[in-house]
Amino acid sequence: MIEMEEYLLKNAVNVSHMLLDPFIPRARVLVDMTCGNGHDTAFLAARMAQDASLYAFDIQDKAIASTRKRLCDERLFSDRVHLLQGSHDQLLEQIPGVVDLIVFNLGYLPSGDHSLHTTSEITVKAIKIGLHKIAKNGIIMLAAYPGTDAGAVEANAVRAYLQTVPQKDYDVSMWQPLNQIHCPPQLYIVQKRG
Ligand SMILES: C[S@@+](CC[C@H](N)C(=O)[O-])C[C@H]1O[C@@H](n2cnc3c(N)ncnc32)[C@H](O)[C@@H]1O
Repeated sequence: MIEMEEYLLKNAVNVSHMLLDPFIPRARVLVDMTCGNGHDTAFLAARMAQDASLYAFDIQDKAIASTRKRLCDERLFSDRVHLLQGSHDQLLEQIPGVVDLIVFNLGYLPSGDHSLHTTSEITVKAIKIGLHKIAKNGIIMLAAYPGTDAGAVEANAVRAYLQTVPQKDYDVSMWQPLNQIHCPPQLYIVQKRG
C-alpha cells in the first residue's frame, strides 16, 4: 500500500488541492472566493509564502466567523490574511493589481442556510472579473456541485461559459469522476497563458 492520504484522487476538492499545491508557495496574492467553514482558506494559509497576501470572501457573516475560528485554532491567522464579508464579484474587483490564485468552492455552507447557494449569474460574473485580474500562469479553480438542482444549473452555466474562453489566452480543463453514482462534484481549472 502506498501511504499518501493527502494525494487521493477521490473528489474535486482533493484534486484541486493537489493541483494548487505547487503554485501556492509561489503566489503573492491568493483569493478564496467562498471561504465557508475555512477548510480551503486554511489549506492556502498553511502553504503560502511569508510575504504573500490571502483574501477570503463569503457572503455570510457566519462563514467569516467560522473561517476566522479555524485559522486561529490552527495558528494560521495573521495580518496577511484578510477576511471580508460580501459578494465575491464585488470584493474581487476591489483587490488592487493582479491575483495569482483564485479558488471557488461553489454551493452552500454545509452547516448553514442551504438557500444561500452561489448563483450562476454571480459566479459567471466573478469568473469574468477573475479572468481579467489573474496573473500570467495564474490559476482559477472551481469546484462545482451538480448533485442538486441549483448546483446543476450553476455547473452547466460555468461549463458553458468556460467553453467560450479564448484558447489563445487561457488553458481551460475539467476533472470529474466517471464511476460514482449520482452527480459527483466536478472541478474546472483555468490557467492564464504566459
Ligand atoms: C461550499 S461552501 C464553501 C466551502 C469552503 N470553501 C470551505 O472550505 O469550508 C460555499 C460558500 O459560498 C458562499 N457564497 C454564496 N454566494 C456567495 C457570493 N456571492 N459571494 C461570496 N460567497 C458566497 C456561501 O455562503 C457558502 O459559505
